[in-house]
Amino acid sequence: MFQKLYDRYLCPHVINWAMQSKSITKQREKVVPYASGRVLEIGIGSGLNFKHYKQSNIKEIFAVEPDSTLLEKAKIRAKENNISLNIQKIPAESLPFENNSFDTVLSTYTMCSISNLQLALNEMKRVLKKDGKFIFSEHGKSPDLNIYKWQKRLNPIQKRIGGGCHLDINIPSVIKYAGFELSDLNSMYIPGPRFLSYHYWGSAFLGDKDV
Ligand SMILES: C[S@@+](CC[C@H](N)C(=O)[O-])C[C@H]1O[C@@H](n2cnc3c(N)ncnc32)[C@H](O)[C@@H]1O
Repeated sequence: MFQKLYDRYLCPHVINWAMQSKSITKQREKVVPYASGRVLEIGIGSGLNFKHYKQSNIKEIFAVEPDSTLLEKAKIRAKENNISLNIQKIPAESLPFENNSFDTVLSTYTMCSISNLQLALNEMKRVLKKDGKFIFSEHGKSPDLNIYKWQKRLNPIQKRIGGGCHLDINIPSVIKYAGFELSDLNSMYIPGPRFLSYHYWGSAFLGDKDV
């Protein structure tokens, strides 16, 4: 009961606040300007990437976001940034878009929260054009065994307070397992608690492998 109330009324505001940190904003600056053409943003949250798009390179922005409160915030932020946004209240596991229809699929801090991540990645692959790019910045599994153990221990708490967020996802592995090929991969701790701050960012394209 309390969890349901928290998820519905408080969690979206916590996410909106936490996602505006200085170090996360720096990460956005490293990936979002590379989006181009027809773009699909996965789990757009409150739309914090808008101001980092290089608008002259963008044709259209589509987005999916399952949370109503965040979706409404994203709509407002799109207007503030003069962006025409096509947004739908759906999860990434079932994208209502045609095959090969996006030049860029963008995910920032969303992969940790998706319930069926492999299904969602398969959907992202399906809608991405053959010469398109998948761009991401995500937190995930720490390379330090001790920190990784803490990530495992803290996962149940993080899931409750962070809208289903997992701390220990091996981001490069899940992306590769889905059949993408990584064209650029960077990783490091950004400022913040170590269990939460190991970051992976870069881009991937469609490889030949189909899973
Ligand atoms: C930590 S927030 C990040 C939001 C945004 N991408 C950003 O960079 O600020 C995680 C987001 O994933 C969304 N989400 C959760 N499950 C999802 C799913 N199955 N498909 C798509 N988005 C999902 C949440 O509603 C939330 O907006």
